[in-house]
Amino acid sequence: MAVGLMDIKGQYAELQDRIEAAVLAVLRSGRVILGPNVKGFEDEAAAFLGTTGAVGVANGTDGLTIALRALDVGPGDEVITVPFTFYATPEAIAQTGARPVFVDILPDTLTMDPAAVEAAVTSRTRAIMPVDLFGLPCAADAIDAVAKAHGLAVIEDACQAWGATYDGRRAGGLGDLGVFSFFPTKNLGGFGDGGLVTGHSEALVQRVRELRFHGSKDKKTFTDIGFNSRLDEVQAAILRLELEVIDEWNGRRALVAEWYDELLPDEIVRPAVPDGLTHVYHLYVIRHPRRDDIAAACRERQVDCAAYYTTPAHLQPAFADLGHKAGDLPHTDEAAATNLALPMHPNLTREQVAEVAAAVAAGLA
Ligand SMILES: Cc1ncc(COP(=O)(O)O)c(C=O)c1O
Repeated sequence: MAVGLMDIKGQYAELQDRIEAAVLAVLRSGRVILGPNVKGFEDEAAAFLGTTGAVGVANGTDGLTIALRALDVGPGDEVITVPFTFYATPEAIAQTGARPVFVDILPDTLTMDPAAVEAAVTSRTRAIMPVDLFGLPCAADAIDAVAKAHGLAVIEDACQAWGATYDGRRAGGLGDLGVFSFFPTKNLGGFGDGGLVTGHSEALVQRVRELRFHGSKDKKTFTDIGFNSRLDEVQAAILRLELEVIDEWNGRRALVAEWYDELLPDEIVRPAVPDGLTHVYHLYVIRHPRRDDIAAACRERQVDCAAYYTTPAHLQPAFADLGHKAGDLPHTDEAAATNLALPMHPNLTREQVAEVAAAVAAGLA
């Protein structure tokens, strides 16, 4: 039987009656932009994450750009980030006119290497943008130490990590500002685009709130060049319902990950989870040099799989002017060449996981 990479329909079915009632209520209310559901979701999200505030925006990419602008990052500045991420991370930096400075990832967790950040700081560096990759928080304390030593801001790209924790603190609350995406495939996903910017400082959260509405406090006086970037009421109403069950959904993902850890062939490199961190497995990503053989065997058995960031951001044509070449960031190259995401969602059964593990083993035969 076919095993899908994700199961958006299955997650919908679980909440179907409540989602349909909530959406209908929004449609009938006539309040579809910046109404009570967006406010309710922002408050509930901030309480969940342990942040001072949260601001709904149109998508994660806008969230990253707005977060950078809220910190006054712009032309002439450098922002240190990783290339083993979705293109939107460095794209947001470039959107502000700043220059993304790419550093390598750690070979086990595949998240930003804090020592590489330290080595990349220059007099132009203004901020660090680590990524909580595939659902695992970045090495937040070590990155924070570099940031504090050099007076830099940290914007955490938590787009893939709703609910993950770092020493008991939620991802998205580990930097000065945190950013989420509610793209439908995310572990907390809407039914359209959506995003959120979170923060600990009241002043910064307020700045984000103004930037999302054209740089205005009162919608009459415009003090900044901002954005039109809002979460809508329909998405917010759905996300509020998902927020009630997200810890349970993440728990079921973690159980699926345990089954994979147990059933996959020994030579497969599993996702690393350092002590004190929890992974929410937005994706379960294995590594092996024979990745392409494994992927072919999976497809033959109708097991969905996907290799991520096979051309990492620093080697994308849009960043050619930065002058990078293959070999500059060896751990990134290795991850790009060997990674493969296997099916992962809260509704997978142990039998399905065994079927995927058998397909992976067949790829190595
Ligand atoms: C790590 C990361 N950053 C940023 C984004 C951008 O989010 P969005 O697609 O909502 O703009 C995504 C997801 O698409 C992502 O995975």
